[in-house]
This record gives sequence, structure tokens and C-alpha cells, in this order.
Amino acid sequence: MAAVPEVALRSGNARPMPAVGMGTAAFPVVHEATKNAVLAAIEVGFRHFDTAALYRTERPLSDAVAEAVRCGLVQSREEVFVTSKLWCTQCHPDLVLPSLRETLQNLQMEYVDLYLIHWPVCMKPGPAVFPAKREDAMPFDFEGVWRAMEECQRLGLAKAIGVSNFTTKHLDKVLAVATIPPAVNQVELNPVWQQRTLRGYCAEKGIHVAAYSPLGGQNWSGEGNAVLESEVLAEIAKARGKTVAQVSLRWIYEQGVTSIVKSYNKERLKQNLEIFDWELTDEDRRKISQIPQKKTVEGKGLFVPEGEFTSVDPADLDIVEE
Ligand code: A2P
Repeated sequence: MAAVPEVALRSGNARPMPAVGMGTAAFPVVHEATKNAVLAAIEVGFRHFDTAALYRTERPLSDAVAEAVRCGLVQSREEVFVTSKLWCTQCHPDLVLPSLRETLQNLQMEYVDLYLIHWPVCMKPGPAVFPAKREDAMPFDFEGVWRAMEECQRLGLAKAIGVSNFTTKHLDKVLAVATIPPAVNQVELNPVWQQRTLRGYCAEKGIHVAAYSPLGGQNWSGEGNAVLESEVLAEIAKARGKTVAQVSLRWIYEQGVTSIVKSYNKERLKQNLEIFDWELTDEDRRKISQIPQKKTVEGKGLFVPEGEFTSVDPADLDIVEE
């Protein structure tokens, strides 16, 4: 297998980020299943893992990394790139550092490579629960929360800091107050939701884009999977002798974006790294550029009932930037 390329992040002291990472959002959480999947991923070559306070997979990830060190699959924790995220109930200036400390305790690590604000949404302080009650939504203090994120990096507890699910409008707010600009914006991105406007903006500002749901996600919307079921991608996959998943991940990589791909299956994990020794053709890229665009993950789905919310501007979450 070709080596996994790495991306240097422009701000922060993080080690370079491997261009494909493993996602660990899987509900319900089964500790052993997550731990075994991470170990299998390390065996097949993954060195980049994505977790979050919300996912409750920090502990099994940590156990897997510790075991991988014990059995010599990796020399030390330094060989892996670990991202975790601050949940909406902790998006208050005085709760950021304690939340990261709790994450580090779960991870049994001294630092995370990357710490992200999970959503541009603030909810009343409390445990990370999903979905949240709409009456718990509060205005987001972008300046205060970002200052606290910067403190996390200054203290060396996060080697780099960034955001997730931020639109250009949210990024404007952070950049207006930032001393340390966000290194990464992790968003839904795949051939069916290409995020051209956001990518253009981030390239201009030096913010690296990472893709979650690079294969269309785990049927979050209940409407199937527009990526894995795409006829355009299936045709290209057939012509190249690859799988649809590989075509999607290869396309994302060619856009300069890092994929966070979730699989707990060893064969599929392996397959998801076998994308670096071949290329799409110009014609493939042209066909992919014409795929009708459709977003799967909606911010309003964070809230119940009926996905409505009051004190957050709905326009903040629903911006369609294609
Ligand atoms: P599984 O864990 O059974 O492999 P995303 O990363 O876009 O969130 O998509 C994850 C979904 O795609 C998961 O349900 C995962 O299931 C599945 N998946 C991951 N890798 C592949 C692959 N190479 N081929 C087909 N399905 C895959």
C-alpha cells in the first residue's frame, strides 16, 4: 500500500495530519467494538483518529492506542494524530478548558493534536446530550469561546485548534477576533455536497478543510446514502476497477481535503487507505463536478422537538453555500 500523505497545518504545533483519518462516531457506543476497530485501523495503517466528547469514544480510542503501543504496532502515542471536539453545552468561555481537560483525562493523553468547536451552536451548560432541547439554545459568544480555545493551544493541551460545521459567516466572526486563526474547519463534504464556496474561502484564509461523511454518512437523514448509491460514482468506479468509496475518497483527496471516514470493518478500513497510487481522469472529475448537490446533515437536527430552535438564528445553521 502507498504511504498515507500528510498535510502540514498552517497554525499550531501539531504534527502533520495524515490525509485520511478514521471517524469514531458510532451510535450506540460499544466500547469493545470501537477499541477493536481502532486497533484494526492501526494495523492497516491509520494514524489519524477523530473523536468528540459527544461520541463517548475517547476512552475506547485511548485504550486501543495504549494497546497498540504495548504490542508494538506503534512506538508511542506521538505517532498518532488525535482530534477531539468541544460539545455545544460547553461552548462557554469558562467551560472550554475544563472540557478539554476532561477529554484529555478520557484519552489518558497529555495533549490532543487538534481540538475543534463541534458546532457553531451554544447550549445551556450541562452534559453532552443529543438531540438538545430547543429551549436550551443560547447566543454563541464567538470571541470569548475562541479566546479560551487559544488558551488551550498556548498551554500545549491542544497542538492546534479549529472548528467544525462553520460556514463562512461563522468563520468571519472567529477571524475577526482571532490571534490564532483556526487551523481546520471540519464539515460535511463529499461528491454530493462539494462545498465549493466554503473551500474557496478556507483556501484564501489558510484554513485546512477536513471532510466528515466523506462516504455520505451513516444514513443520518434516514433517506439512504446519496454517495454510495450514486450512479455517476458507480460508473467511474467500474471503469477504474475501484469501489465507489475509493472514488469518493480519492476525489476528496485530490481537492486537498482530508477525509474522516468511519468504518469498523477491517477490509473496508484497508480499502479506504488504498487511494494514493492512482488518479481520477479529467473526465471523471468533470462528471463528478456535475453531480446534483444535496446536503445531508442539518444543524437544525441538533434540536428537538421538530428540529426547531428559538434563540439561535436559524439562518446561521442553514446557509447553503453552493
Ligand atoms: P461500516 O462501519 O460497516 O464499514 P462516512 O465515513 O461517510 O460517515 O460513512 C460511513 C459509512 O460507510 C458507514 O456506515 C460505514 O459502514 C460505511 N463504509 C465505510 N467504508 C466503506 C467502504 N469502503 N465501502 C462501503 N461502505 C463503507
